[in-house]
Amino acid sequence: MRLFHDPPLPSPFGQAGMSRENYAGFFWEFVRDRRAVGAVAPSSQRLARHTVNAIDWSRVQRLVEYGPGTGAITEAIMERKPPQVDFFGIELNTRFVAELKERFTGMTVFNDSVANVGQLATSLGWPHVDAVISGLPWSSFTEGQQDEYLDAMQRALSPHGQFATYAYLTGLPLPAAKRFRAKLHQYFPHVKRTRTIWRNVPPAFVYYCSK
Ligand SMILES: C[S@@+](CC[C@H](N)C(=O)[O-])C[C@H]1O[C@@H](n2cnc3c(N)ncnc32)[C@H](O)[C@@H]1O
Repeated sequence: MRLFHDPPLPSPFGQAGMSRENYAGFFWEFVRDRRAVGAVAPSSQRLARHTVNAIDWSRVQRLVEYGPGTGAITEAIMERKPPQVDFFGIELNTRFVAELKERFTGMTVFNDSVANVGQLATSLGWPHVDAVISGLPWSSFTEGQQDEYLDAMQRALSPHGQFATYAYLTGLPLPAAKRFRAKLHQYFPHVKRTRTIWRNVPPAFVYYCSK
């Protein structure tokens, strides 16, 4: 019989440092709040690395992660981020915040909404944010939420700000996903899309946007 205390999953879809218990916890949070969590499982290592590698790190001094969840993308950020880059996360789910603090000792993570990114950055004395890496489920959001979060990010980002976020291939036909893509072009002069990362459940790709 397999127990939740089994060692971390070796699957190509798995995350280093994530146990079956972590996966079950993530799924449970999805059941509790589908719209905000927006995925049945955390991102794979491959998707996390693609998301983080989309950023031009030579232009980043201050970075914010949106919706770190249980830390799939956070782990890739920690691996890739030059040590001098200041970094914090914003996570709405209280349980995930507790897990993140346990997994990444010393990480600054606010239990708050990304709508407040400007105030949170100011509270740390940051004049602006150079890059946002997002794990938010943009295609589960209403148009009002998409606008609120993109407006707040636009105000917080520096004049050369960058934004990377992943999207699920399966969600692309949804009106909210199409609307989000159209909005990216309204907010950013440069929008690119990576190839599909098939080793993720579900398969996904990354939008990279810059001012
Ligand atoms: C699809 S999960 C991604 C988790 C993780 N980044 C990953 O890739 O595995 C989306 C996360 O965004 C968080 N979230 C949703 N709306 C949010 C908001 N307005 N502000 C901050 N976090 C939010 C959810 O609680 C959830 O942890």
